[in-house]
Amino acid sequence: MREGPRTATTPTEGPTEGPTEGPVVWHVTGARPNFPKAAPVLRALAARGIAQRLVHTGQHYDDNMSRVFFEQLALPEPDINLGVGSGSHAVQTGTIMARLEELWVAAPPALVVVYGDVNSTVAAAMVTSKLGIPLAHVEAGLRSFDRTMPEEVNRLVTDRLSDLLLATSVDAVAHLAREGVDPDAVHLVGNPMIDTLLAHRGELGPHRLDGLGPLPSAYAVATLHRPGNVDRDEDLAKVVAALHATADQVPLVLPVHPRSRPGLSRTGLFEHAGVHAVDPLGYLEFLSLVDGSALVVTDSGGIQEETTVLGVPCLTLRPNTERPVTITDGTNRLVTAEGLAGVVGEVLAAGRPDDWPVPPLWDGLAGERIARVVTRFLG
Ligand code: UD1
Repeated sequence: MREGPRTATTPTEGPTEGPTEGPVVWHVTGARPNFPKAAPVLRALAARGIAQRLVHTGQHYDDNMSRVFFEQLALPEPDINLGVGSGSHAVQTGTIMARLEELWVAAPPALVVVYGDVNSTVAAAMVTSKLGIPLAHVEAGLRSFDRTMPEEVNRLVTDRLSDLLLATSVDAVAHLAREGVDPDAVHLVGNPMIDTLLAHRGELGPHRLDGLGPLPSAYAVATLHRPGNVDRDEDLAKVVAALHATADQVPLVLPVHPRSRPGLSRTGLFEHAGVHAVDPLGYLEFLSLVDGSALVVTDSGGIQEETTVLGVPCLTLRPNTERPVTITDGTNRLVTAEGLAGVVGEVLAAGRPDDWPVPPLWDGLAGERIARVVTRFLG
């Protein structure tokens, strides 16, 4: 077992795969949600014979937060692992910046592609900007309009510095237009995370859950890791009361993010007999769990999108979402801790929908569209 958060280690170099001639596109990933977004883009660019390098910043480093995704999504071994580990926002972002700068001064990329809204994303964006390297942002334009979320700050800064803004939804395009971004730089490409989900959908199923021991036949899934829910005990107490009231109605399976475990344990979540806590799951295991569930309670961004495509009711335990398209064209609903148990009762009574909308262009072809935009940009 690990003894605590990993701090920065020495960067390591891996094999360089694919063509080495011509302009080189560098991809920066680092945290769990980056991996399913990057996989289809890497594949589509490789199919076009474009030389690529993959950086893993090391923001997430536990095997079940990182390595399992590389294996299951057939991602290439990263060319470089920066080994930054955990730390405060400034330490983590600053360490990534210093290491990327050194790397890219020595080997300047033709284009850097970043994903989502994590600290690895914004760190890479700032380095490219100062070195005069073009930047593409996959998942540009999402806005929660809540700057208490570190991700919102990361999104705003990354978009401001990007040359190619690759948007997953129409509302994201509208936000960028309102912020004065050159419309020629903005491309509505769909959602590469959904490419990955659709590509692996046939591999999901109860057989993936054998390692979890006997599961109840009907269950709900919960995931929580946002600072707004899990960092302060007074917020946590409300969340735990809401999850206990949910577990009174339906067994709750909870893959526990490492940052949430101490607080959830301290505030008594695991003491309810209906709460089944498990370690973080691999990609295929987690989506199999979700696919077989009656509903999901979450504060994640990506899970709002995945439940929308799987047709699983999603109750998002947050005051806002940067993904409103999952409410208007999906299965998502925002809930408060106080309101959760009541909504769970309604959703259980209604059952899973037979028919539900899915946002435009969430069709498995986003990686291809991104590759087309990138190829044109490289000229
Ligand atoms: C990060 C992202 C968040 C994303 C989430 C997905 C930022 C600001 N936040 O949050 O947007 O939704 O990833 O999981 O980038 N830890 C481990 N093992 C690991 C990684 C983390 O034990 O492999 C623990 C450490 O105690 C660490 C804490 O989790 O301090 C937080 O990790 P960090 O990467 O800072 O943020 P996340 O909460 O994972």
